[in-house]
Amino acid sequence: MNSSHADALVFFGATGDLAYKKIFPSLQAMIKRGTLDVPVIGVANSGWNLEQFQARAQDSLEKHGGLDGAAFEKLCRLLRYVDGDYQHAATFQAVKRELGQAERPAHYLAIPPVLFETVVEQVGHLCCADSSRIIIEKPFGTDLASARKLNSVLLRSFPESSIFRIDHYLGKKPVRNLLFFRFANSFLEPFWNRNYIESVQITMAEDFGVQGRGAFYDQTGTIRDVVQNHLFQVLANVAMEPSVRADSESLRDEKVKVLKAIAPLKEGGVIRGQFRGYKSEKGVARDSRTETFAALRLHVDSWRWHGVPFFIRAGKCLPLTSTEVFIRLRRPPLTFGSSVPSPNHLRLRMNPEFTIALGMTVLSPADLTSEAVEMVASRHPFPDEMDAYEKVLGDAISGDASLFAREDYVEEAWRIVDPILKVQTPVYEYDPGTWGPSAVEADVVPPDGWHNPPVSERTSMSEAA
Ligand code: BG6
Repeated sequence: MNSSHADALVFFGATGDLAYKKIFPSLQAMIKRGTLDVPVIGVANSGWNLEQFQARAQDSLEKHGGLDGAAFEKLCRLLRYVDGDYQHAATFQAVKRELGQAERPAHYLAIPPVLFETVVEQVGHLCCADSSRIIIEKPFGTDLASARKLNSVLLRSFPESSIFRIDHYLGKKPVRNLLFFRFANSFLEPFWNRNYIESVQITMAEDFGVQGRGAFYDQTGTIRDVVQNHLFQVLANVAMEPSVRADSESLRDEKVKVLKAIAPLKEGGVIRGQFRGYKSEKGVARDSRTETFAALRLHVDSWRWHGVPFFIRAGKCLPLTSTEVFIRLRRPPLTFGSSVPSPNHLRLRMNPEFTIALGMTVLSPADLTSEAVEMVASRHPFPDEMDAYEKVLGDAISGDASLFAREDYVEEAWRIVDPILKVQTPVYEYDPGTWGPSAVEADVVPPDGWHNPPVSERTSMSEAA
């Protein structure tokens, strides 16, 4: 296992959007926390020099999270810059010169996927392939065949133990807490199975559109953008068995087993939607059939979950921004006169705040009728809480692979969605600010209906169903 701390970070795509919005703020945060103390070599083809690169870092920090004088000064001392074309060997020779005596560099590819192959091969020739590491951004392929091809390109130059495939969702504290909560509390285990759980819903709602990323999004769509990666990871955290050991491979083995138990999606189990106005976005084809909303039903056919439907719903331009897991239990067998108890539920909200809510039925103040209530524990992120990018980048530099998608995991995830990426199912229009097309309510709907995340936790008591 390549688990030693990297002694340099090389990041390709250093003048791009991801670097501007996420990477510089993460680097500064790591410096403040005392976890980054190695040279950081930015590589891009922008015709810049080191001063311009440092100025870009400063601008990025001022716009995204705030500049910390002392940490920024230290970051500037660590920054190096190489300008050049990724097609030219000279660019990589310049990287090698900047690496100097480094023996365990981590190469981070924040570049468009079309460039992956060229850069991976060049980096593989640079030096010390056994001790260097490659960190690769999503999207990891566009279907099963392209993901397999990309894996074979990577594995030609690096062993699997040196490949870190980023899914920033795994770095989010509430997503990590989902797993922690499940296995740090013994009261959950008795009901966490097909005997008590009726259905599981995962909703990722965003109240904004494609935010200037129309050209990228139109080639991608919701299923590739967030379902195959982020939401399958959330699903794996909900459904996996406890890992027998705490090491990264034992943990990742359990996640892969969840995906192996899911059959490829069929046409009838998926509804696609597109918000009205999407086709007028910059970069989007006027006759686009790309989905900006998807709802799907699948089954994890394991001993624990056989017969329990899982529903995933994600979309742009929905009424609010929130990601929630909603676990509905089976209804109790008794009624109390005319009063039918609601099924219990557990609601795990991952943003904008972290919430654990337990839905229960109690006797109403008016007596003899029942009332649905929620017991809610909720908190907002702490001011200096570790951001998802800081977490995954820090783990990749320090060599902990637990939060990264392994080769077999990404291929299993693509296997599940591959058939529906290849067929043209209807794309229903929906109005921005609604919960997607009405076809969802008819065709892909949990037994007791969809639960829409509340606007905020203050209103959740009255909205509990
Ligand atoms: C990205 C998607 O991977 O995740 C975006 O490309 C999406 O479309 C984003 O908005 C959501 O992540 P976060 O961290 O902003 O909630």
